[in-house]
Parts: sequence; C-alpha cells; structure tokens
Amino acid sequence: MSDQDIGKRRAAEAALEFLPEGEVIGVGTGSTANYFIECLRDQRQRIAGAVASSEATAERLKAAGIELFDLNSVGTLPLYVDGADEATEHRQLIKGGGGALTREKIIAAASRTFVCIADASKLVRRLGAYPLPVEVIPMARSYVARQIVALGGRPVYRQGFVTDNGNIILDVLDIHGLDIVEPIKLEQTINNIAGVVTNGLFAARGADVLLLGSADGVQRFG
Ligand code: A5P
Repeated sequence: MSDQDIGKRRAAEAALEFLPEGEVIGVGTGSTANYFIECLRDQRQRIAGAVASSEATAERLKAAGIELFDLNSVGTLPLYVDGADEATEHRQLIKGGGGALTREKIIAAASRTFVCIADASKLVRRLGAYPLPVEVIPMARSYVARQIVALGGRPVYRQGFVTDNGNIILDVLDIHGLDIVEPIKLEQTINNIAGVVTNGLFAARGADVLLLGSADGVQRFG
C-alpha cells in the first residue's frame, strides 16, 4: 500500500468517531470515500443508512449492506463524510475530480457536519494548482467556456465524461488568473454564469472538520 493510500485509510478510520448512532449519513465519492465505505461495512449496524453522492457510491454502499436513502426522504443529515482534491487548513476545498461535485455540494449543504477526509498530500496553502471542475449544462458548454476565459481561466472539456446528472465538466486550468485569493467570491462568480450547475470550490460551505491522514497518523483541523 502506498503512503497516500495509508493516509486515506487512516483518515477514513478516524471519521468513524463522528458516526451518529441510528441515523442516516451522507457519503461522498472517490478513493478516500471508498475507504470510508469499507470501514462502514463493519459498523453498519451503528447507522440507519446513507445518502450517496453518486451512482458509484450508491453501488458500493449497497454492496456493503448499507441501506440507501433519497435525500428528499430524510431531513438535515447529521454527518457527511467525503474526500477532496485540495484542502486548506481553513477547510476550504476543491472537489469534483471524480465529477460528482454537484451532488456532493448538495449533500454538504444539507448536512450539519461535513467531515472531509484526505491524505496529507492534499493540503495546500492556496487552492488552485488542481484544475477546478465546473459542471455545465451541455448546450451552454461554449458559452460558459468563453466566460471563464474572459475571467482569466483556461477551461478544458473533460472528454467522454457525462455526470450522473447528464451534464458535462469543464476543468479550469490557470485558476490563479481567476483571483483564487478570494475563493468564496470566485465560487459565486463562476456559479453565476448561465449554464453552470456548480463548480468544485467548496469555500462558502467548506468542511467543518478536516482529517488528514499520513503514515505518521491523522492531523485534525476544525
Ligand atoms: C469526487 O467528485 C471528488 O470530489 C472527490 O471527493 C475528490 O476527487 C477526492 O477523490 P479521492 O479521494 O479519490 O482523492
């Protein structure tokens, strides 16, 4: 197992301490979230079930014997556990490398506590080295791309990828041209472009707790 995988697994194990007994929780998408699902398999009697942030996660949860719930049938979730592509110690994130950003943002918004789990290599001083994913309604692809260029970014169409919501992803490079110094403002600016469903900046609603795993242990922020 690589050091990164050890870190992911440790962060996932550490998130178990937040499990609310007998309740429905939100579960994210990606390799770190998959480690969390593996850990949950043995603890599944502690929760009532889960809301999945993607079809892939729903499949894994089902295979782990965890009952699935629709977000519309449950109230505010007590806990959401998910990974990130980049995280700051202020718990602002870039997410969506796996393309599940919109459902992830909805579940984060609908949850009281968002625990972000990641290996320590995801910690950055400033967001934006990782390409920022933007989910876009297909007919708006060129228009949104032009608007992002006008803002100073370089959008790249994620070829052959369709989100669970039937949309496309533009990955924005050179995000530093987009004044990432103010991530909340940039998150809002991009979300205000017609045709954008949402973007992968989790700044207005970042994580409440960030658990960063490494071979040395787990570092907690928040
Ligand atoms: C999925 O769309 C993403 O937001 C993931 O949470 C993020 O890409 C982290 O993935 P890994 O845990 O695989 O690094």
